[in-house]
Parts: sequence; C-alpha cells; structure tokens
Amino acid sequence: MVNKITVVGAGNVGATAAQRIAEKQLARHVVMVDVVEGIPQGKALDQYQSAPIEGFDGRVTGTNEYADTAGSDVVVITAGIARKPGMSRDDLLATNAGIVRQVSESVKATSPNAIIVMVSNPLDVMCYVAKRVTGFPRERVLGMAGVLDTARYRAFLAEALDVSVRDIQAMVLGGHGDTMVPLISYTTVSGIPVTQLLERPKLDAVVTRTRNGGAEIVKYLKTGSAYYAPSAAAVEMVEAIVCDEKRVLPCAAWLEGEYGLSGLFLGVPCKLGRRGLERIIEVELTSAERTELAKSADAVREPMAAVKF
Ligand SMILES: NC(=O)c1ccc[n+]([C@@H]2O[C@H](COP(=O)([O-])OP(=O)(O)OC[C@H]3O[C@@H](n4cnc5c(N)ncnc54)[C@H](O)[C@@H]3O)[C@@H](O)[C@H]2O)c1
Repeated sequence: MVNKITVVGAGNVGATAAQRIAEKQLARHVVMVDVVEGIPQGKALDQYQSAPIEGFDGRVTGTNEYADTAGSDVVVITAGIARKPGMSRDDLLATNAGIVRQVSESVKATSPNAIIVMVSNPLDVMCYVAKRVTGFPRERVLGMAGVLDTARYRAFLAEALDVSVRDIQAMVLGGHGDTMVPLISYTTVSGIPVTQLLERPKLDAVVTRTRNGGAEIVKYLKTGSAYYAPSAAAVEMVEAIVCDEKRVLPCAAWLEGEYGLSGLFLGVPCKLGRRGLERIIEVELTSAERTELAKSADAVREPMAAVKF
C-alpha cells in the first residue's frame, strides 16, 4: 500500500479506476480530481460510503484543486473527452493534447516524484505529451493500452476455445489503435500454441474482433466508450507498481532503440515494479510481426508530429 494515488478525470474510466484502487486497498488515500465542480466530490463520497460494506480502510476524496493531490505516488490520467460513434482515436488528438498538457503541468508541480499511468487517448501520443511536459524519466511515464487489448484478445480466445480465460497467455503489442499487433506466435493455452487448437480463419476472426474491441462497445453505448475493462487494465498496472510485483505486461513505453525504434511511445513487454518501468523485454518477432510493429510506429509518429507545445 502506498500513501496517495490520484486519478485525474472523474468520468467513467477515472471513477471506476478509483473505486477499484480503493477496494484493492492499494493506497491510504485515493484522490479524484476533475475540472467539473461537484462530480469528483460526489462520486468520492459515494465510494467512501461503500467502504464499510466492501471492507476497505483507505479514504476516497474528490477535488478540483491539484493542491489536494500533492505528493501522490502514482497518478492515473483519464482526463479528456471520450470517443463518440464514428470518431477515430486520432480525432481526439487536439482536444485531449491540450487537456493532458495542462494536467501534466499540474502533476509536475504538485507530485514531482509520481509515476504516471496514462489512459487518455490517443494513448501513445498523450504519453509523449506527458513525458515532454513533465520531463519525467521514462521509468515514470507509462501508458495503458496493451493490457486492455490483450484482455480483449484473451477473452475472445477463451470464448472461441471454450476454455478458462486464466489459461490463455498472450500479448498484444504496438500502438493503441487499428495497428495493434497481437503476437500469435506467443499465444498459448497453458503452454500449448494456440495455432494447434484453433483453425487459422477462426484465429484471424478473433484478431479482427480484438482490433475493433473498443469500436464494438462504442457502437452499443452510442454516448460513451468502454470503461469497465479499461479501468481494470489501468489498475492492474497500478497494482504491479505499488505492490512491486515485477509483472511482465504490455505497456506503452518510451523506446530508446528497443525493437529498432526510438523516440516514441509504443506497446512493448514491460516489467513493472515499485520504480515504474524496470525493464523493456525484447522478444524475437516473426518478420510479419516486425513489419506490423513498424507500421504501428508510423501510425503513432504521424499524430505525434502534429502536437504543438
Ligand atoms: N487507453 C485506453 O485503452 C483507453 C480505454 C478507454 C478510454 N480511454 C480514454 O480515456 C479517457 C476518458 O474516458 P472516459 O470514458 O472516462 O470519459 P469521460 O468523458 O467519462 O470522463 C472524462 C473526464 O475528464 C474530465 N476532464 C476534462 N478535462 C479535464 C481536465 N483538464 N482536468 C481534469 N479532468 C478533466 C471530464 O470532466 C470528465 O469527467 C478518454 O480519452 C478515452 O478515450 C482510453
């Protein structure tokens, strides 16, 4: 347990993440901060009133002031606008870049030693904005996308194979978008290569559904986007960090030559512990996977270049 975890943005993903953090007792104090007056305060009070039922001891508070978030150990950033039907993640770029820039300045001023877990979209570019504005080392700026994409892939595979989700090991790398790279060569069911259990057309259908995992939900909800699985994914990263678990999870990390790529955030296997990013693990890729990863990097570089500081 750490002393303080702040969640920026008390919307669907942020509030659900705060609730999960409190229920898992990852911090003595969970703070939600948002620009809208009353929303973080009201949601936090509601969550705190569930403490006697759920049995957690940490405090949950809401605020509009960064002073109340001061000295946070971890800051989860979910502020921004969510995707609307028909809107691509990249459409969100200009608005969310402005929001994340302002949030990052406040985090730098009040929690200079925090580890940032970015959730706001377009994810890989928002990680870049946070790193540029805070000047934090790459160990302390990580993005959540791969854990969610991998969870979707594992859930769809478990459904297709009629086996437990717990027995599916998999990793989805690359950017958070249509160019994500599910690593079929590393997908196993309790160590058995998935290609021995599922015919290729069915596997391809799972991969396609994974790529469209977010859009499928947006189509149903019409006025918002996914938040149960995204918040669970962000909190899995927070837990790995605060409990020093040394988990190996696919996260967006700043690359400095790994996978032959530099100067951008991209989803790669990361070891997470109390210091944040403790190691990027380089695995062998097939030539097709390498090509897909390079394509994914191009898809991140383009919007990155459009961000103004
Ligand atoms: N990385 C991923 O895999 C992933 C998954 C789901 C959602 N997302 C992204 O997460 C973000 C949040 O999604 P959501 O569904 O919770 O949206 P939401 O609209 O429910 O919540 C966003 C919240 O941010 C707040 N906000 C806006 N500007 C702010 C600022 N300057 N400071 C603090 N708070 C501010 C809003 O008031 C709102 O409460 C979106 O950008 C969405 O695209 C990412």
